[in-house]
Amino acid sequence: MRNRVAVMHGVNLDQLGRRDPEHYPQITLTELEFKVGRFAREFGLEATFFQTNHEGEFCEWLHEASERADGLLLNPGAWTHYSYAIRDALEVCGLPAVEVHLSAVDEREEWRRKSVIRDLCAGVVQGRGVDGYRDALELLRSSMAAAR
Ligand code: DQA
Repeated sequence: MRNRVAVMHGVNLDQLGRRDPEHYPQITLTELEFKVGRFAREFGLEATFFQTNHEGEFCEWLHEASERADGLLLNPGAWTHYSYAIRDALEVCGLPAVEVHLSAVDEREEWRRKSVIRDLCAGVVQGRGVDGYRDALELLRSSMAAAR
């Protein structure tokens, strides 16, 4: 069983549907997860989902992720831009990972253009909304295959 993908959403992603429509699709996290689950099955992957607004909990989940998953799809929300704690936990975890953002973070405010996890990830997909998760899963599948 080497097809398990953990889709990890961080802070404020549980508020999808209420966020700025200029940057975010008007769907709930549950609806997004449903779609991502379908994309995953198209690629022969099995997705599980996790979301928290607590940074330490996100780190603890990463500590144990290798027992539950073979690859990670990460959207840590604002933590992406400054959480060295999450970066370190991701490094410890050692699983292949892809960073994904609904909005085009590199074209928004200056502070969103920095990602402290990017160099630990096999790639990043941003600004493609829900469909970006499909692209990210495709990338992740390749890097999971290469990691075998
Ligand atoms: C986000 C982009 C982040 O800058 C922001 O803080 C989020 C969501 C995205 O998916 O576009 O919460 O990660």
